[in-house]
Amino acid sequence: MRLVLPLDLPDKAKALALVKALTGKVGFFKVGLELFVSEGPSILSEIKELDPEAGLFLDLKLHDIPATVGRAMEAVKSFSPDLITVHTQGGLEMMKEAVAKAEGLVVLGVTVLTSLEPSSLDELNEEYRKPGLYAARLAQRALIAGCGGLVCSSLETLDLRNRFGQAPLLVTPGIRPDWSLVAGDDQKRIGTVSSALSGGSDLLVIGRPIREAPDPVEACDRLLAEISSTLRELKNNSQVQD
Ligand code: C5P
Repeated sequence: MRLVLPLDLPDKAKALALVKALTGKVGFFKVGLELFVSEGPSILSEIKELDPEAGLFLDLKLHDIPATVGRAMEAVKSFSPDLITVHTQGGLEMMKEAVAKAEGLVVLGVTVLTSLEPSSLDELNEEYRKPGLYAARLAQRALIAGCGGLVCSSLETLDLRNRFGQAPLLVTPGIRPDWSLVAGDDQKRIGTVSSALSGGSDLLVIGRPIREAPDPVEACDRLLAEISSTLRELKNNSQVQD
C-alpha cells in the first residue's frame, strides 16, 4: 500500500467522509497542520476507528530548538502515529533530540519542500540554487541523526536512494499524474507515479489530484492501478523489490 492520502481539509466532517470513501485503498492517511490545528489530536483516533488497517502519518514538520521539538515529540507519542515529520533544516541536534524522544516512532526528515524552486531558494542563499544537492546534504544529516526516512521530491529520489541505500523510507509528495486537472498550484518540483517509483520511492503523497478530481474514488483507483502497473513493470525489469 504505497499511497499516502493527505487529509488537507478544514474540518472533521469533510476529512472523515473522505476516509470512509477511501477505506481499504490507502496505505496511510496523513494529518497535517490544517486538520490537526482545527480538530486536535482526537481526529487521529477517529480516522483509525474508520480504517484500522491504514497507518497514521502525522505531518507537523516540527522545526524549532532541540528542547522544544523533543518535548513536542514526547507529547506526540501519546497519539500513536506511525510516521511523524521534522524539518531537516532544524539541524542535527534538533533531529537527534526528536529521534531520541520519539522512542521507536518512525521520524521522517523533510528535505527541500517540493513547493520551492531554484529561484525561490536563491533568494535565501546562492548555494540553494541546486535543490538536489541541498536535499542530499540535508538528508545525510537526517540519517546521521537517526531519522528512519526522508521526505523528498521525485526529482531527488533516485539520487538519495543511490547515496543512502535501501534502508531509509523515501516519501515523495508533489506527484502530478499527466491526467490530473490540478495544474499551476504551489507544487513546483513535481513528478509522476512512475518517476517517483522508478527512483526508489516507498510512499507517494497524493492529495489534490485525488481530492479535487470530479470523482475522488475513481481518481484514487486510477492512481492505485498506475502504482501497481509501474511496480510490475519495474519488477520485470528487476529495478525494485517487493
Ligand atoms: O498532492 P498535493 O500537492 O495536494 O499534496 C500536498 C500535501 O503534501 C500536503 O499535505 C503537504 O503538507 C505535503 N507535502 C509534503 N512535503 C512537501 C510538499 C508537500 O509533505 N515537500
